[in-house]
Parts: sequence; structure tokens; C-alpha cells
Amino acid sequence: MTRSLVIIVSLLLAALAAGFVCEDELAKCLKRIDKGKKCQGLPLPDNLLPPVTVDAKGYNLTEYRKGVYSVGESQYFMMIVKTSSQLIVVDGPEGNFLIRDANGVPIGTTLTDAIKEIAGDTKFKRIKIIYSHQHYDHIGAVPFIYSYLETAYPKAQIKILAHSAILKPLINGDRPGFPLPTVLFDKKKVLKLRRNLKVIIKPQCGGHTPSDLIIHIPKTSGGVGVAYLVDVIFPRWAPPYNLAIVTDIHEYIELHSRILALDIEVYIGGHFTHVGTYQDVLAAKAYLEDLLAASAEGLAVSSSTPLPAFFDVMDPSSRWWGNLSHFVKDFTEAGVAVCSRIMIEKWGCRLGGVDIWVDAHCESIINFLRLDN
Ligand SMILES: *[C@@H]1O[C@H](CO)[C@@H](O)[C@H](O)[C@H]1NC(C)=O
Ligand SMILES: *[C@@H]1O[C@H](CO)[C@@H](O)[C@H](O)[C@H]1NC(C)=O
Repeated sequence: MTRSLVIIVSLLLAALAAGFVCEDELAKCLKRIDKGKKCQGLPLPDNLLPPVTVDAKGYNLTEYRKGVYSVGESQYFMMIVKTSSQLIVVDGPEGNFLIRDANGVPIGTTLTDAIKEIAGDTKFKRIKIIYSHQHYDHIGAVPFIYSYLETAYPKAQIKILAHSAILKPLINGDRPGFPLPTVLFDKKKVLKLRRNLKVIIKPQCGGHTPSDLIIHIPKTSGGVGVAYLVDVIFPRWAPPYNLAIVTDIHEYIELHSRILALDIEVYIGGHFTHVGTYQDVLAAKAYLEDLLAASAEGLAVSSSTPLPAFFDVMDPSSRWWGNLSHFVKDFTEAGVAVCSRIMIEKWGCRLGGVDIWVDAHCESIINFLRLDN
């Protein structure tokens, strides 16, 4: 193609893409909601594209400061820290890191290649594997990593560190032989690796699961500050499900401020398409604050509007007589509708997936405001 043709084609493609400008689709979406219909879905905000790219080995390895790496694929991120004598492997997610045989049975993980690439010919004396929390999707590849490390570094001392609350779920889990932690703790732990590199491991409780850890590498003359906390903030995305299956919303809200109090430039959230920045954590907190306000508004509307369902439930001649679920459903939906509309208008083009998950977010926070606050 000639250069001018290339330019014309690019302009045409840009014009086509502009057909899906989020703000335009958002206006259509809100109109549909106001007519009592479902929003037809929103295009992704610009800052989510392109998604993470991987190299020929199937992963994305990024170094943020000397010896501190994230390894990502299309949905998961984990972290590796390396010095001249120590290796720290934080989590071993499954996802596309798993290598499967023809029957789909996992037989290995590309994470061992990432470790090889990072390690080069370093002879590690000490190796630590850290479990960020109890969910197997983030630690399920560890058995492969563990046996690789045992073979590759027979002289190294290998320890597995985790929050003490992890033991019960791992013992109850259905994975015979899964490597159990060898060091359990429920107080802050500091690993001093180099003069200007330390790893602070802080137990959390219930921001996602009871066994959560925040792993914090403070900013020093050696490089940027990094925080690793899984399944709480999803940089540039709305959290999936009911705020990522949160068990303790008080803790979840507080955690956002606690992360912002850290001196960090890099936030590794364990999931989705991007490693985040401090700005992404600020955005997550702003989303949560708006969600609390919108949920309060939703709750105020549903609490003050007489719902016909209530009278039906009390009326012996109604088909809904005595069916309390019918009333609770209407009551919940009335509050969620008010909350969701506010949130979609404000955030639908700022974070990915808001249109999909906002109802679940509103329902969780409305119930939290009613019952737990
Ligand atoms: C890994 O991700 C970063 C950040 O998105 C990107 O700049 C880099 O090109 C990616 N590396 C590969 C090998 O795709
Ligand atoms: C009760 O109400 C709910 C909500 O409207 C409805 O889905 C359900 O079929 C009704 N009947 C029973 C037996 O739950």
C-alpha cells in the first residue's frame, strides 16, 4: 500500500473505532435504564487497551527496580524478588501459567521458566515462597514451582511463608500433598534483603479472605515502592462479583486508605490486564466512596417508597400472600436500581466492567449499610 492509502485506511479505522466512544454509548445506556430496560454494555475505557501482552514464553516479565519483578499473563499477576543469594516467589497462580497435557491435566507451569529467566546462574542460598492468601487460583501452581526449586537448588533452604489463618482452609482443601506453609505468622514480618531493599509482610484480615497478606517493598534510593495485595483492587477495572467476594466490608474500606498510606508507585493486584499505579488505587478508593454514597441514596429511596409488594405479601387474596421473598426482592431491586444508575453515569467510562458488576456492588453495600454499619 502507498503511504497515503495507509493514512486513509488508518483514519477510516479510527473513525470506526470512534463509533464506540464510551461517552456516546453511556448516554444510550442511561436512556435505556431510564426506560426500565437493561444497559446494553459499554466499551472499555481507553486506558485498558491494549491488554497485557506476553512474550513467546507465554508470560509478561516486567522489572520495576533491581530484582523486583511482576510476571503476568492475560488474567493473573504474581511477584518475584531476587538478590545475589535469595529468591522470593510470591504466589504461583494457575490461569494460563499452567501447562496442560492433551487431556487438560496440568503438568507444569511457565512460571518455572520465568524463575529461570530471572535467576540466570545465581546460586540461591535461601528461597522463600509466600502465599498471599488461601485461594488456589493464586497458589495452585506452587507444587510445580516447589519441586522445580528443590531440584534446581538442592543446597538452598526453602521455606513457605503464610498467614496463620491459611492453615485450616489448606488442610480442608481437596489437594492431597499440597505444600503447606512452614512458617506461619500473624504479626508483621520484615525481610531485609539488601541495604536498600526490604520486603515487609503484613497480615490483613478479611479485606478478601481471613488469610490476606500485604507485601510491601518500601521506596528507597534503590527504587520505587511496590505493594502486592491480591483480589482487593483491580487496577483500572471495577472489582468483579460482590466486590471480589469480600468477607469483611469494614476491613475492605479501610484497606484502601492503608494502601494509600504506603509510599508506592506500583500496585500489583494479582489480576486482570494491568499492574496498577498509585493513581489506580486512588481511583479504586474514589469508586468505593461514591458507591457508599450511591448505596445510601438507594437505601433511602427503597426505605421511603411504599412498595406494592409489601401489601401483596400481607394480602390473603394475593398470589404473593406470605411470600416474604417477594417483598425483599422488590425492596432490594428498588435500592439497587437507584444506586446502579448513579454509579454507571459516574464510573461507566472510567473503570472497566462497571456495567457488569455494579448491581452486585450496590446490593453488597446496601446490605452492609443496613446490617453491618
Ligand atoms: C509487558 O507489559 C508491559 C506493560 O503493559 C509492556 O510495556 C511490555 O511490552 C510487556 N512485555 C511483553 C514482552 O509483551
Ligand atoms: C415468592 O416470590 C419470589 C420473588 O418474587 C418468586 O420468585 C417466587 O417464585 C415466589 N414463590 C415462592 C414459593 O418462593
